[in-house]
Amino acid sequence: MDNNTSAISLGRLHIHSPLVLAPMAGYTDSPFRSIARAHGAGFTVTELVSAEGIVRDNKKTRKLLLFTEKERPLGIQIFGNNPEVMATAAGIVETLSPDFIDINMGCCSQKICSGGMGAALLRDAALLGKIAANVVRAVNVPVSAKIRIGWDFSSLNYKDTVRALEDAGVDFISVHGRTRSQMFSGNADWNSIAEIAEGARVPVIGNGDIASYDDAHRRMKESGCAAVMIGRGAVGNPWIFSGARPSLSEIVEQIIAHLDAMIAHYGEYGVILMRKHLVKYIHGFHGAAHFRVRLLQAKERKEVVHILGELHDAGKI
Ligand SMILES: Cc1cc2nc3c(=O)[nH]c(=O)nc-3n(C[C@H](O)[C@H](O)[C@H](O)COP(=O)(O)O)c2cc1C
Repeated sequence: MDNNTSAISLGRLHIHSPLVLAPMAGYTDSPFRSIARAHGAGFTVTELVSAEGIVRDNKKTRKLLLFTEKERPLGIQIFGNNPEVMATAAGIVETLSPDFIDINMGCCSQKICSGGMGAALLRDAALLGKIAANVVRAVNVPVSAKIRIGWDFSSLNYKDTVRALEDAGVDFISVHGRTRSQMFSGNADWNSIAEIAEGARVPVIGNGDIASYDDAHRRMKESGCAAVMIGRGAVGNPWIFSGARPSLSEIVEQIIAHLDAMIAHYGEYGVILMRKHLVKYIHGFHGAAHFRVRLLQAKERKEVVHILGELHDAGKI
């Protein structure tokens, strides 16, 4: 499956494909990460995990940290704004043996930013640098940071941000080419990403709006990034990492395997949690609307499998 075997080094992290999975809360859980890896993703990352929650050993937080060998190379992403707590959390996370630790400096949600965390750190390069330096010092595994290009268009301070991260000793930096104020609107600014990649002393991973395998390679070539990160484009389309064009049967098989992995991980509730993936797997397929409505109402595995069987026989995908 992995026909994209150009090994690269991101500082001390070595990966076999430059197309990597983006962290996405509610999506990049253990089942989805192993699927992305099976299709050739260069690495996978957990969703953002609270450093405070890690230090307090919160039960829900602990579950977010679980992963299997199949997901490696795997990064655990932590967020917070207290340099000491971040260092302590990183030390705890390191005992789980991830392949790297990523620091969230780009989350745009109101809840995270109003607490001075995520993308809010972009407004304070000194604090951001201190957090990164503390985490780097606290662990032996590679450390990366994921940023946006700035807080808003009147403060595009990515040069200061990147310098602070380099000075802190991070292994690589992932850049989502939007400002915090854009949230997910507009387009990712790949010109700024290219400028960062050109000037940075560490490898840069470009991120934003990659919708296909060809897109990924074009963006990588044009921006000069060491690698590219794919988020929404991988949901319902893990083949984006290999460039393979799946047949109808392969798509149905993948959906059922994903569903089974969700049930194994979450219990029967996995069927409900699978819905957001299901709609993406069948998104855009001609004549699938009627099946989609039924799939979104199904509460049990056997119902979903039955409807997928009908959909397959009707040749609707
Ligand atoms: C539902 C959702 C959840 C996300 N959660 C995270 C997260 O936990 N940590 C993070 O750094 N970025 C998160 N992001 C941002 C993505 O990693 C990525 O930067 C963004 O979606 C742009 O890439 P894309 O256009 O390939 O999706 C999230 C994005 C989405 C859509």
